[in-house]
Amino acid sequence: MDTVFPTDANPAAIVHRPVIVKIQELSKSYRTGFWLNQQVVSLQPCSLEVYQGETFGLLGPNGAGKTTLLKLLLGIIRPSSGNAQLLNRPAGDQTIKQQIGYLPENPYFYDYLTGWEFLTYSAGLFNIPASIYKERIPELLDIVGLSRQTAIKKQLRQYSKGMLQRIGMAQALINDPDIIFLDEPMSGLDPTGRYQVREVILSLKDQGKTIFFNSHILADVEVICDRIAILDQGALICQGSLHELLGSPDAYFVKGQGGSLDVLKKWLQNLTFEGGYWQGYLHGSPSDFMASINLMNGRLITLDLRRLSLEDFFIQQIHQRRTNPNPN
Ligand SMILES: Nc1ncnc2c1ncn2[C@@H]1O[C@H](COP(=O)(O)OP(=O)(O)OP(=O)(O)O)[C@@H](O)[C@H]1O
Ligand SMILES: [Mg+2]
Repeated sequence: MDTVFPTDANPAAIVHRPVIVKIQELSKSYRTGFWLNQQVVSLQPCSLEVYQGETFGLLGPNGAGKTTLLKLLLGIIRPSSGNAQLLNRPAGDQTIKQQIGYLPENPYFYDYLTGWEFLTYSAGLFNIPASIYKERIPELLDIVGLSRQTAIKKQLRQYSKGMLQRIGMAQALINDPDIIFLDEPMSGLDPTGRYQVREVILSLKDQGKTIFFNSHILADVEVICDRIAILDQGALICQGSLHELLGSPDAYFVKGQGGSLDVLKKWLQNLTFEGGYWQGYLHGSPSDFMASINLMNGRLITLDLRRLSLEDFFIQQIHQRRTNPNPN
């Protein structure tokens, strides 16, 4: 199946890409308590699609349901309702495991293996021949920024959190997967490590891989992702390209006084009022907007070329949902 969406790189572009991840009304609840008579809804029914070659970011506060969704997609846990497909096969299907890479949120490492041994073991799980993994392991170590000496000599119990995260990332790529799931890939990394992971993701993207990842580091997400979705308390509250959600990168931020609320609502996204002023992001032509302000005897104070940051957008979305969970 094909789709069409604009990107920041080319807002007007019509992009046709096959669907790689398709989620329909997928939900997950757990029974908890001593008598298993209480229910925790980790994920409310949600639907979304991820397209080939896309970098998709799943965002949300702690406990929002991000890891739950990833585990459902990988077939690690079973849904309570709905269904998910990866590469046109049901989630968890054995036949597509070779094409999938996964970095879990809290990976379990065998403490007494060296990094090199761990990667060799991981290659074995995919039946990768020695002639291939012997070349691939050093390449991966370079990509994730771990020295070969360390990988050969140090056991994993001697690795720092960031070093474990790097070896985990190398493990996720050992089978040269087409689709890569990363649960908090930047967690525990110093700024250089974060930069390196960002570069790794961008280079995977250049190779045409599809990347689905969870993250709290919104500045990185904004640089890397084509599209995002935001979960809050198990509910999917929005999804779309950064272009669709934040506005065009050349959107205008405007601030002013007076005029008619109904007219302002038509022109401005994220309209807010503070200290007698209104402000928001303009959609439409600035000159037409100014003409409209004049007509309604309003006053324009600022017109800046910028768009909402992903961080501001995220905070706004969560705040709006929690203060007004049922807008209708
Ligand atoms: N096995 C389980 N049994 C009961 N509740 C669970 C289970 N696993 C997850 N949950 C609950 O489901 C909700 C979503 O958890 P999840 O781990 O998916 O959140 P998250 O968005 O990944 O959070 P974080 O950003 O902290 O990693 C939480 O309320 C969590 O307590
Ligand atoms: Mg999580």
